[in-house]
Amino acid sequence: MNSDQQMFEHIQELKEKHNAVILAHYYQEPEIQDMADFVGDSLELSRKAAGTSADVILFCGVHFMAETAKIINPSKKVILPDMDAGCSLSDSAPPDQFREWLKQFPNHVVISYINCSADVKAMSDIICTSANAKKVIESVPKDKKIVFAPDRLLGQYMVKETGREMVLWNGTCQVHEIFSEKALVTLKAKNPHASVLAHPECDENILMHADFIGSTSAIIKYVQNADEQVHIIVTEPGVIHQMQKNNPEKTFIPLPSNTGCACNECPHMRLNTIEKIIDSLEHLKHEITLDEDIRIKALKPLNRMLEIV
Ligand code: 13P
Ligand code: SF4
Repeated sequence: MNSDQQMFEHIQELKEKHNAVILAHYYQEPEIQDMADFVGDSLELSRKAAGTSADVILFCGVHFMAETAKIINPSKKVILPDMDAGCSLSDSAPPDQFREWLKQFPNHVVISYINCSADVKAMSDIICTSANAKKVIESVPKDKKIVFAPDRLLGQYMVKETGREMVLWNGTCQVHEIFSEKALVTLKAKNPHASVLAHPECDENILMHADFIGSTSAIIKYVQNADEQVHIIVTEPGVIHQMQKNNPEKTFIPLPSNTGCACNECPHMRLNTIEKIIDSLEHLKHEITLDEDIRIKALKPLNRMLEIV
């Protein structure tokens, strides 16, 4: 198979054959976003997964996202183009360690960021995403103590935003924790009229320079309504594709990481390719499977989130 058009047509045929839907996160390669039936942030993708009538969900994202779709849709086949597409935040909370750690905090409400495994979700009371974390935290009665996991940096930001004390698990996103403050200050000086748009998984030293902090779709919406013509993007640069498509006249500058490599690209998200998507659809692999007991326990906090916001 060679031309893009041929590949696209082949994907359409396979989708029809299997009654499949393709969901993609904003951090996927532009050509994957363009080929997907729906592109969104973590919250929108979970809602889409909850509402689909397809028999097969091909998830172009990372493992915890596909797993979330399976928790919500046990009777559907959920497949991921590359089973190695993980997430450093999710990996930062191994279930056994998390279970032990939680024993120190009885009577706490456990809020887990959606970037965690099904086992960790099963030990949680409510799930949140970056789009709804504030509302989820505010839904917990003020007299209740809160544990927030696994993202320490999002947790720190939320403590400031909500004024709530929270016990934080010490996990981070390998992409967002290493953005370069030095490069940001230099870019701001060179582009004094640019707005700085950051994801809340970033560290405080980066967030303090931001004009807007939000989830991937919140950042995309901000750009849509903004007067500024230049935007410094402080999240995975995959989001720039939709911004550029919707605003061809604007300029987007991705902030580099402090290591000098292209580490602002999520190495897990970027494992998915068009070729792997075709292979995945042809052979209906790699399938997400879950222990039913864990799935039922993980569904409860996910549903609680979907009911709140
Ligand atoms: P969003 O929920 O903002 O799409 O973020 C997902 C993610 O993995 C950020 O690193
Ligand atoms: Fe996980 Fe970070 Fe990649 Fe998002 S960008 S999937 S949080 S490693």
